[in-house]
Amino acid sequence: MTFLFNSDAQRGAVFREAFARELPHLPFAIGPATVSPADIRYIITWSVPEALEQYRNLDILFSVGAGIDQFRLTAIPPEVKVVRMVEDGIIRMMQEYVTLAVLALHRNIPAYLDLQRRREWRALPQKQATDRCVGVLGLGVLGRAVLESLRPFGFRLSGWSRSDKTIEGVATYSGDAGLGRMLGETDILICLLPLTGATRGILNQDLFAQLPKGAALVHAGRGAQLESSALLAALDTGQLAGAVVDVTEPEPLPGDHALWAHPKVLLTPHVASVTQADTAARAVIDNIKRYEAGLDLVGLVDRTRGY
Ligand code: NDP
Ligand code: OXD
Repeated sequence: MTFLFNSDAQRGAVFREAFARELPHLPFAIGPATVSPADIRYIITWSVPEALEQYRNLDILFSVGAGIDQFRLTAIPPEVKVVRMVEDGIIRMMQEYVTLAVLALHRNIPAYLDLQRRREWRALPQKQATDRCVGVLGLGVLGRAVLESLRPFGFRLSGWSRSDKTIEGVATYSGDAGLGRMLGETDILICLLPLTGATRGILNQDLFAQLPKGAALVHAGRGAQLESSALLAALDTGQLAGAVVDVTEPEPLPGDHALWAHPKVLLTPHVASVTQADTAARAVIDNIKRYEAGLDLVGLVDRTRGY
């Protein structure tokens, strides 16, 4: 029974070495062409491999990424466990990215870049961090981690999730009514939601209208959660003062899309966080050890919730 690594060769080499050290009893293959599908017990992949029905001894399908929206869950046999990536490298990079983005918006960097382009030496009014509220949509592994990294700056912090949560020093909300209450007090909104039927298109005109005028957005969830025309309109009316956008629909973003050139938008090409081979191998190995010891898997996807 084999572990199949179905992603890039560079990370594959790091996984191979870690598996040889930590799970020497488990045969390890890179690429589906190198092994018979019936021999595969575990696979790590970004997308569902072709002819999955031939993987009849598959126990666990690990996602290379934290998100699993790229999988059509109904195409995966119900007895196969789907596990998203929970690993320190992704968490650390997302903390860096969101902290950078929040501070850039807090300190008016989009506006200063515009002034720089116009060679205009002028100070803009500056609020203090304690006078701003930063709200996070999604209080999962990443949402909670970025709240921790924002804590030392003194922002008021809030967060929204599907189920109720208690987090010290963070005002928490859930459900539709909770979302409205949080938005009304949020100056910088961060989206770290998984893409599901309930979150598709959630960053829309109605949501932007509920934020205080002059609020800002950091979008690092999934592109299909954002209605980009609504964002552009909100930026143009001044309802929003700025946005940092890492994920778009489609990806790559077409060259003629208005997001590229909008002066109030900082755009990055889905790089907020990237799975790191060494820490990801560690996380997958730990999960296989847990599974083989009969313990719960970290990051097990609940197919009814879709994340
Ligand atoms: P988790 O599954 O740990 O957390 C998801 C959170 O979203 C949970 O708090 C969950 O609520 C909440 N949530 C889900 N659906 C709803 C809903 N309908 N209403 C309110 N809250 C909801 O995921 P991660 O934190 O690990 O990752 C989040 C997402 O970040 C990924 O799915 C991916 O899309 C994105 N991502 C982006 C990257 C990038 O580079 N841009 C890199 C990595 C991830 P509850 O706690 O109640 O279940
Ligand atoms: C992920 C991503 O989901 O890179 O890990 O977006």
